[in-house]
Amino acid sequence: MEKAGFVPVLEEKDLQEGKMKLVPVEGTPVLFIKQQGKIFVIDNRCPHMSCGFSGGALDGLVIVCPCHDWRFDLRTGEYEDEPAFKLTKYDWKIKSGKIWVRLEEET
Ligand code: FES
Repeated sequence: MEKAGFVPVLEEKDLQEGKMKLVPVEGTPVLFIKQQGKIFVIDNRCPHMSCGFSGGALDGLVIVCPCHDWRFDLRTGEYEDEPAFKLTKYDWKIKSGKIWVRLEEET
């Protein structure tokens, strides 16, 4: 399996609106989110102290870390109070009914 390539991870229909799904991909905890009809794919580890976002909450297009309540905008990846802290977002695509992910950071 090519590290730089896309890998199929989830059936598109298994990701439901307003839900998060945590799936390990090649040893990386990857969190899939569908919110307001949009899909976001991020590293589950918070850029602050690596807490798992899967235990947190969604608030519109914001994800709230369960450890210290930092709020990150899913669109930009930025922490609201200090944009230098950013989520790791992964590139994804839908092909043949599956969500494929590339474990390289989006640039
Ligand atoms: S570990 Fe996420 S806000 Fe501190």
